[in-house]
Amino acid sequence: MHERHVVLGVSGSIAAYKAVDLASKLTQAGVAVHVVMTEAATKLVGEASFRAITGYPVSTSMFELTNPHSIEHISLSEIADLFLIAPATANVIAKVAVGLADDLLTCTALATRAPILIAPAMHTAMWENAATQANVKTLRERGVGFVGPDEGRLASGGYGAGRFAPVPDILGEAHKLLGANGDLASKKLVITAGGTREAIDPVRFLGNRSTGKMGVALAKAARDRGADVTLISGPTDRSTPTGMNVIPITSADDMLRAVQDASPEADALIMAAAVADYAPAKPSPEKLKKEDGPLSIDLERTIDILDSVRNVPVRVGFAAESQDLLENAAQKLDAKGLDLIVANDISRPDIGFASDHNACTLIDRSGSIENTPILSKREVANHILDRVVGLLDRAAAK
Ligand code: CTP
Repeated sequence: MHERHVVLGVSGSIAAYKAVDLASKLTQAGVAVHVVMTEAATKLVGEASFRAITGYPVSTSMFELTNPHSIEHISLSEIADLFLIAPATANVIAKVAVGLADDLLTCTALATRAPILIAPAMHTAMWENAATQANVKTLRERGVGFVGPDEGRLASGGYGAGRFAPVPDILGEAHKLLGANGDLASKKLVITAGGTREAIDPVRFLGNRSTGKMGVALAKAARDRGADVTLISGPTDRSTPTGMNVIPITSADDMLRAVQDASPEADALIMAAAVADYAPAKPSPEKLKKEDGPLSIDLERTIDILDSVRNVPVRVGFAAESQDLLENAAQKLDAKGLDLIVANDISRPDIGFASDHNACTLIDRSGSIENTPILSKREVANHILDRVVGLLDRAAAK
């Protein structure tokens, strides 16, 4: 993939300082970030911060467009794979909507053929003003994306709509747009993540140690390769990823229904969730009181989701094994009629649950066995998706 370029337009909202974090996170994700600031923005946040964080010069005036030392001699509007305006004031939104180009930021917006994503930040009354709403509608109809604004405490001390969207939300939408032409473009992927919780009574549950990291890494990586992702996730303490359809669930039964609902449309199903194999047969409607002596709870088998949802062209399962990894994983692949199984050796303390790293063994229907080295969960996710791309091609050729 070629290096991707984001032109980040920063305008004069108090939230401009948050754009430094945004620029930093994009840079860390390997994106080249070229910052364009309006004059008002330069009064609120330092040019030097953006320059130091991105490693690229910051543009603030029209004259830099013709500067022979400008970025690789290519104008900002042409270099952009995405033009992200964050924060965008009501004034900038209005100018972009009518095609005014009286400074470098709005000139770039008018000249670029790249997708435009806007993260507004302003006082509630300005956001709710009919003029701003009409401008937003016009831009949306032209295909401009918006992320936020959120409701919350505003710089003015008031509370209402107009707050700059959280940086992770903006990043999610930005990565989705940057990946729009990736090798999973237009493919619908249903991915499950996290552990399920099976109620014992209204306050207690049976759960497991899954943190959801692997499933979320898969969902984000798929989104960034252009997939239309539905993430069905058990409770996690992780922030909800954006740029995808997230369906929160609690129990194995909830997950079964969510997967059944999403599967008719799906091109691939990846079950990374740690679904409970057993659930209390009769959860108590009231909180159980302790008594002398032991307590026993009757458990019944949950329905195996992968085994029962077979109407998806490509189905990928996970196997967490502490012994006989290859035999057990191959047996699951076979029993559930999977295209690929990702086997993890959970006896290794350096990988697996809660770790940021993973190493796995990929077994497919032909019997081919591939061992990955220890990689970040993101790299493992991309590795699995490389295989999914191949399986989708094969399924389409049938
Ligand atoms: N799975 C599922 N529905 C369940 C249980 C598991 O779809 N009710 C999926 C998991 O998401 C995973 C794969 O099946 O992709 C794991 O298979 P499973 O046979 O349940 O393995 P383990 O959970 O490791 O169970 P076992 O105790 O049999 O090793």
